Amino acid sequence: MSENLRLKLDVNNMLAEFVGKHGIAAVDLAVLEGRAALAAAAVEAKRDEMAWRDLPHNQAAVAAEIKAYADDARGKFDTLVVFGIGGSALGPIAVQQAMHSPYYNLDKSRRGGNPRLLVADNIDPKTIAELFVIANLKTTLFSVVSKSGSTSETMAQFMIVKDILERELGKDAAREHLVCTTDQTNGNLIKIAQNEGYKTFYIPSGVGGRFSQLCPVGLLPAAICGIDIEEMLAGAAAMDALCKNTSMWQNPALAFATLHLAAMEQGKNITVMMPYADGLKYIADWFAQLWAESLGKRFDNSSGEVFVGQTPVKALGATDQHSQVQLYVEGPFDKVVVLLGVEDFGCDVPIPTSFQDIPSLGFLGGHTLGELLVAEQKATEYALQKAGRMNMTITLPRICANTIGQLLYMFEVATAYAGEMLGINAFDQPGVEEGKNATYAYFGRPGYEAKKAEMDAAPPKNAKYVI
Ligand code: PA5
Repeated sequence: MSENLRLKLDVNNMLAEFVGKHGIAAVDLAVLEGRAALAAAAVEAKRDEMAWRDLPHNQAAVAAEIKAYADDARGKFDTLVVFGIGGSALGPIAVQQAMHSPYYNLDKSRRGGNPRLLVADNIDPKTIAELFVIANLKTTLFSVVSKSGSTSETMAQFMIVKDILERELGKDAAREHLVCTTDQTNGNLIKIAQNEGYKTFYIPSGVGGRFSQLCPVGLLPAAICGIDIEEMLAGAAAMDALCKNTSMWQNPALAFATLHLAAMEQGKNITVMMPYADGLKYIADWFAQLWAESLGKRFDNSSGEVFVGQTPVKALGATDQHSQVQLYVEGPFDKVVVLLGVEDFGCDVPIPTSFQDIPSLGFLGGHTLGELLVAEQKATEYALQKAGRMNMTITLPRICANTIGQLLYMFEVATAYAGEMLGINAFDQPGVEEGKNATYAYFGRPGYEAKKAEMDAAPPKNAKYVI
């Protein structure tokens, strides 16, 4: 990786030396470094069980196939709709928002011939009904993404769109408007896709939903919208090289995880991610799922009850300086704040030198909005530090496919380290499955009769407490 694209992680303000008694004491650092080295070695030893670690390295053929399909799709469609939820939606949204103009979908001239992207993760009937009003079926490609092929939300959306396409365009034409990304062998979606003759891409086994952004789940919509997926993978590969280090001072993912773990052990049960760039706003959303679903666990690896996890909160600078930052600076000492900054926004907007006769406004003139946003980020960092609040800053030289690849992969590996240090399985989601199973039972899916009986046996709700 060229040095001028490398992310920087500044963790000074996690330490007592800079934030006082609520920070990590210098005497504890040596122990933490030792724990970090052990966790890094353990995660590296389990690399074979983490197929997502190979994604930056083993997808040359997949990327080529995706690019060929994307080139063709760009010529045919003006809209790409992604149906998927959780890991199948948050990554594509985050990368799209990071890489494109905020007005990408609104203005054709901002898209360079690429289709607009609509990610329909939720099943609110109003949203889905409106989607079919604004998307012209004849010029829309629908991408259905589900690893399991059984998630109720996504599969219901698939059933709806298949039905509409076949009624409106006919079965043969409908086929050309559907592409499915799913497990290569397991689940309903792959069977249906094969029977119907849909184009398919595969989620490698061992790559869970929230670790899937760097496989076709994320690469396909990115490529169709003109994002350089090979450069994104190159950024991830460069981060992977750093993640081979067992010293937390040479491995940003390890430092991020270890210092968060130390913070959790001091009662910092919340981590706030606060990007100071609109393009990174949905990275915080994506990270929230990764950190919450991976680390929020009842049992450890020895089946002991531990009830661990750290609640991720999303914020946006400078907007949330005017809403949440009061709490972060003066509220309970229960948080780490992660600031995400950008050195080069790629453009800037000068502030005119007007109102020089009003000093309290005139000082803004002659600067730029980029400078003001960076100043606000530094000001928040300063306020947090002064108030003794743990915080760290990740800086991207600029937002591009390479730095986004680095960032995503860094957080994924950090999550694996954190899971290792907590002694839990970071790659399952029994709490999510419980909700999925209860939905199946509610809706009468065969095989879920026992779950339905269990739910029916729950104590009836007391009307007295419904206000
Ligand atoms: O991270 C996860 O595993 C989940 O958030 C899944 O991505 C989500 O539940 C959707 O699952 P599927 O891809 O099987 O439809």
